[in-house]
Amino acid sequence: MENLVNNKTMFENIYKGKKVLVTGHTGFKGSWLCLWLKMLGADVFGISNEIYKAPNLYEAADIDSQIVSHIADIRDLNKMTSLIKNIQPDFIFHLAAQPIVKLAYEEPVDTFTTNIIGTANILEALRVLNYPCIAIMITSDKCYDNVEWVWGYRETDQLGGKDPYSASKGGAELIIKTYFHSYFKKNSSVKIASVRAGNVIGGGDWAANRIVPDCFRAWASNEKVVIRSPNATRPWQHVLEPLSGYLRTGQLLHQEKIDNGEAYNFGPPTDKNYTVIDLIKALANDWDADNKDILNVEDSNFLESGLLKLNIDKALFDMQWIPTLDFDQTAIFTSEWYKNYYQKLTDQDSLQFTTIQIEQYVRVAQSKDISWALR
Ligand SMILES: NC(=O)c1ccc[n+]([C@@H]2O[C@H](COP(=O)([O-])OP(=O)(O)OC[C@H]3O[C@@H](n4cnc5c(N)ncnc54)[C@H](O)[C@@H]3O)[C@@H](O)[C@H]2O)c1
Repeated sequence: MENLVNNKTMFENIYKGKKVLVTGHTGFKGSWLCLWLKMLGADVFGISNEIYKAPNLYEAADIDSQIVSHIADIRDLNKMTSLIKNIQPDFIFHLAAQPIVKLAYEEPVDTFTTNIIGTANILEALRVLNYPCIAIMITSDKCYDNVEWVWGYRETDQLGGKDPYSASKGGAELIIKTYFHSYFKKNSSVKIASVRAGNVIGGGDWAANRIVPDCFRAWASNEKVVIRSPNATRPWQHVLEPLSGYLRTGQLLHQEKIDNGEAYNFGPPTDKNYTVIDLIKALANDWDADNKDILNVEDSNFLESGLLKLNIDKALFDMQWIPTLDFDQTAIFTSEWYKNYYQKLTDQDSLQFTTIQIEQYVRVAQSKDISWALR
């Protein structure tokens, strides 16, 4: 931690001493973000509707003791307004959502209210309070109308969503755009950006129906992995990749170095495609257990896109953001985390191990001269 604390220039030290609100702080990405923000010296607040059933990274890394946590539903506008009024955050990272594609098929209305109305409630609270705040609104690569083409989607491409989860994220994008043009574009102290990333992997995810948690859960209990869409291509990236993009967006918006109201994609390099099977093999390589069997089950019960790539040129051009890890490093970071958790090969607990991985990630970014990480 010493290296990072002494590094005054990461994100130009913008988060030190700032009040930062993370919605969805008890979730997978929110937990990593809370830890990174703490390492950057921020005062971190969280809003989520629950702490997931164990295991979860939030409890494994004892994040609750390091931040101010509120358990509340983002669908409750009055509650959101009063919490945000009390906290008065300098930054909001809005991650709270129902993020599981399969669950969205089973509970479409809940998914729409959480992902669309929940987003509207956060923006509405900011509109009525109207005090200086940078709001980074996290949606998804699935917000685009997926026409299964081979090119990466650009921020200006058509929004859409043929399945309920994708529609909920496309819908959230429309709400963000509306609030920007109607309320935050002129004479507002609120500045916003929407950020779109793809399939995120890394230690500490135990969500149901996601390929990485499914693998490690199965391998840890010596069972076969059940997978769907084995040949589907996804923009796999380590969880720290979009988080570095979100933090960079917040920094540059605060410094007025990028425009208010913009959207940004954060994804892996687009020169190579990796399928579900490629990922499972890479993860299995680094997992020293006896059982690496793969049970290949095609689940045709629901529609899921086969090919989805993001064009990340805008993040490079405006923010000098590029991915830090290659595919193999991404798989190793991920396997190592679960190995430490399940096989207890080191004496580091989940908090220490997660912190070390953030430091390692920053060092790789520094070795590649990536702007946000430079000394
Ligand atoms: N994980 C991925 O691969 C991925 C990919 C693209 C986009 N995203 C987006 O990133 C964000 C975070 O995803 P994640 O993987 O960490 O999900 P997660 O399921 O691990 O966490 C979701 C968080 O949202 C909270 N939440 C859910 N419904 C809520 C409600 N009604 N009120 C308050 N809080 C609520 C949960 O308590 C949890 O803290 C989501 O917006 C998701 O759509 C994730």
